[in-house]
Amino acid sequence: MKKAHKPRVYIETVGCQMNVLDSELVIGALRQHGYELTDSPAEADVLLFNTCSVREHAEEKTYSALGRVRHLKRRHPEAVIGVLGCMAQKDQELIRQRAPYVDLVVGTGQLAAVPELVAQVQATRQPQIAVSLGRADAGREEVEASFISYDPVRDPSMRPTPFQAYVRIQIGCDKFCTYCVVPSTRGPEQSRPPQHIWNEVRQLVDQGCKEVTLLGQTVNSYFYRQGDRGTRLSDLIAGMHDIRGLERIKFVTNYPKDMTDDLLDAVRALPKVVKYLHVPAQSGCDEVLRRMKRNYTAAYYMDMLARCRERVPGVAVSSDFIVGFCGETEESFQKSVEMVRSARFKNSFIFKYSERAGTKAAERYADDVPEEVKKRRNNDLLAVQNENSRLDHRAQVGRIVEVLVEGPSRMAAKMATPVADSTIVQLTGRTMTDHIVVFDGTRRLIGQIVRVAVEDASPFTLYGMVVTDDVVNAAVVGEGEGSPQGWPRRPNRYSLPMV
Ligand code: SAH
Ligand code: SF4
Ligand code: F3S
Repeated sequence: MKKAHKPRVYIETVGCQMNVLDSELVIGALRQHGYELTDSPAEADVLLFNTCSVREHAEEKTYSALGRVRHLKRRHPEAVIGVLGCMAQKDQELIRQRAPYVDLVVGTGQLAAVPELVAQVQATRQPQIAVSLGRADAGREEVEASFISYDPVRDPSMRPTPFQAYVRIQIGCDKFCTYCVVPSTRGPEQSRPPQHIWNEVRQLVDQGCKEVTLLGQTVNSYFYRQGDRGTRLSDLIAGMHDIRGLERIKFVTNYPKDMTDDLLDAVRALPKVVKYLHVPAQSGCDEVLRRMKRNYTAAYYMDMLARCRERVPGVAVSSDFIVGFCGETEESFQKSVEMVRSARFKNSFIFKYSERAGTKAAERYADDVPEEVKKRRNNDLLAVQNENSRLDHRAQVGRIVEVLVEGPSRMAAKMATPVADSTIVQLTGRTMTDHIVVFDGTRRLIGQIVRVAVEDASPFTLYGMVVTDDVVNAAVVGEGEGSPQGWPRRPNRYSLPMV
């Protein structure tokens, strides 16, 4: 008998932006097969969990989410439960052992097949597993070919906001930092052809998108070869810069060794490119960096940072750190503290080392820093970073910043009562240096770029007031080069030569 309603899909996503994008694409594809999205697991015909393996905690989150839907499967045996993404690629067998009611296991490189695999489960009641080849299973070309990048089916309802979108420019990673599972969960590094990326950005802008965030695990290693020509990240962003309607271009995450001057020059010269670089350092100690196989020293990182700030005046830089990596002594930890103190990052994400089976670190080194020590180092490093974040945010007070308005602030969003478009609410958005700003305005401003005078700051948020153009013009007079207002204003046009 035909069902009265469209089939419904429920999805939970953990992990990085790449996973958020993958979930959007999976839902986009399922919608094309007649599905609609539901936020109620009990009502869903298909329940999907898009997973992350980067730390044990992320994996445990997925196992407890799976535990929560176990009873649904008992009540509705016809519901399809699927595990997607990094954990699926890494732990196919283990997932079925720990949660035998899972019907579908689909790795990061096989997500395009989800609609077909769901149909197969429904038709055969047999579990379906689709994963890519492991790094050691075959030659590079074959392994690469088994990680399929499929990006065209976009789904606006799954985006952070209707006017912001992620765009994948690269899949995989070839750096093999010793602590990290990503090179095996996402496969070999492959850059997408620039024409595909430009077309996708055009398509997104046609759908009303104003800001794109280009994604890659080491996004600044992007390089696409066509015959004797190559396209670098700087060329790629220059090539999309003049798309009408596109207002902002961001890219994450950068690898310190690949921060080339051509890229920094493009960031400075192209007005739509956000003046923000996320460049994880991971540690301030050379010995630890060597064991992590990061391929640089602390001094190299600090020189790179100075170069970023010299070439892109006013740029905001953020970082990631791992504390308690194998063999990290108090002395080596203090070197990370010293780096965070002197580097003055806008913010840092700090993680306790989590040993991952199958990585070189797990094979070679003992996970010998006790949990309480990891916890204390995490708190200590965070305290130093928070003080710097406070200084960084305070330095913005008195400036006039351009803000892309993302929506009601967290506080306003919590107030459930619906308000008219003309009612003043508390709004939030981000500046051209990725600072979060909270200010009052009407909902009509959502999706617009407005100028905000920054009046106050906490370590994580700026507070301000929308200003009229008259005020902006008065305030901009006398601004020095190197301040955010010193950047070229639109509609200036720049283009960089292809190599
Ligand atoms: N490709 C990006 C992001 C990788 S994962 C990059 O190289 O920057 C995001 C962050 O998780 C990393 O920067 C690192 O700080 C952290 N991370 C990765 N593996 C980890 C592990 N085994 N334990 C703790 N943190 C880890
Ligand atoms: Fe992991 Fe290192 Fe690759 Fe980042 S660069 S994804 S930390 S292996
Ligand atoms: Fe996690 Fe995979 Fe991203 S392991 S951090 S979801 S690439």
